[in-house]
Amino acid sequence: MANMDRRTFIQLSGAGSVVGAAMAATGQENPQTPAPGLAVGNPVVMAPRTDGVEIVWRVSGLAKGYVEYGTSKDLGNVARSDGWGLRPAGKEVIRVRLEGLEEGTTYHYRVITEGFDTKTPALETGPLRSFRTLSASAESTSFCVWNDTHKHDETIRNLASITPASDFLLWNGDVSNDWNREGEVAEAVLTPGGAGSGVDFTGESPLLLLRGNHDVRGILAHQVEDYVAMPDGKPWYAFRSGPVAFICMDTGEDKSDNHPYLFGRAACEPMRIEEAAWLEKIIERPGIRNAPYRVVFCHIPLRWTDEETDHGFDYFSERSRKLWHGSLVKWGAQIVVSGHTHQDAYIEPTDAFPYAQLVGGGPKMPQARLITGNANGEELVFRVLDLAGKEVRRIPFSPLA
Ligand SMILES: [Fe+2]
Ligand SMILES: [Fe+2]
Repeated sequence: MANMDRRTFIQLSGAGSVVGAAMAATGQENPQTPAPGLAVGNPVVMAPRTDGVEIVWRVSGLAKGYVEYGTSKDLGNVARSDGWGLRPAGKEVIRVRLEGLEEGTTYHYRVITEGFDTKTPALETGPLRSFRTLSASAESTSFCVWNDTHKHDETIRNLASITPASDFLLWNGDVSNDWNREGEVAEAVLTPGGAGSGVDFTGESPLLLLRGNHDVRGILAHQVEDYVAMPDGKPWYAFRSGPVAFICMDTGEDKSDNHPYLFGRAACEPMRIEEAAWLEKIIERPGIRNAPYRVVFCHIPLRWTDEETDHGFDYFSERSRKLWHGSLVKWGAQIVVSGHTHQDAYIEPTDAFPYAQLVGGGPKMPQARLITGNANGEELVFRVLDLAGKEVRRIPFSPLA
């Protein structure tokens, strides 16, 4: 069976039974060794940087793997160490971090997935794919934003179908509702849109993810960091792409850490304080400090249209704003792009809040919104589109420097 056919067959049929049958047919069955795992779905290109990315892919059982890559389709380089002297391996997912790459460069790659049978390990060679590293020095950049998909497969498939290729896709939180079932983190983050949907959401744009309040909920929320690669290890980060500096903040829960609903699992208050200390420093970093455009992403808005009414839960993250507002104003943030409220909204800058607040849509098809951004030397333009691709909002900014 050809590699692609075999992978499709596994996706459609359920991994365990197919792998078991394949082993029995080749006489590899051995109760002392785990069943080999094979790739499930498309590899996901995450955590793009100017000098690397991380390739993360699902497997159907314990497997090891590596990545072949290069600037031509001949590849020529191999990344096969996890940095601890072992081959990257896992029962659900394999992660391979590529470093030392050239800025703003297209790389071709493929993932190789191997079982753990020592005599004749099952081996699967993935198809040739590509990604592009970020460029801090490019004259222009483009990006797309999803938010609050909440595992609504139809919405995700439709969002994917209208999402153009760009320098990165920012998934702005509430990927989930909560994490309580083994396996669902890998499913939701790496193969979104439903089993066998084939949604190839990082085929043309690498992924950056920010957690939403729902992504820190559930007894398995601590597993998210095992499946989501971040540029710098923490769930918040900053980077430059072309003329735009992006600061990506994790607003955490929308409730106090001691709220009874959270069962003592949340510790977002110390995290937001740590982010505040980091933010104070990052706004001084060359390239961030003096960027022509300055954009913040965070799941929960920092402003809302009606901040006085008691909605029963937080429409905006007052806790985050109290900690971060001073630094954001000092930096000259032009816009904060968020989700969370499930209502697309735009709030103009004011004297008190000199950054605009853009909010995308919700998980249901009529609410869902794709946000795109395009920046060059003349302007940075945000567009908000519904799932029919109709532009419902257009917000231009002039460069600051
Ligand atoms: Fe949400
Ligand atoms: Fe939310």
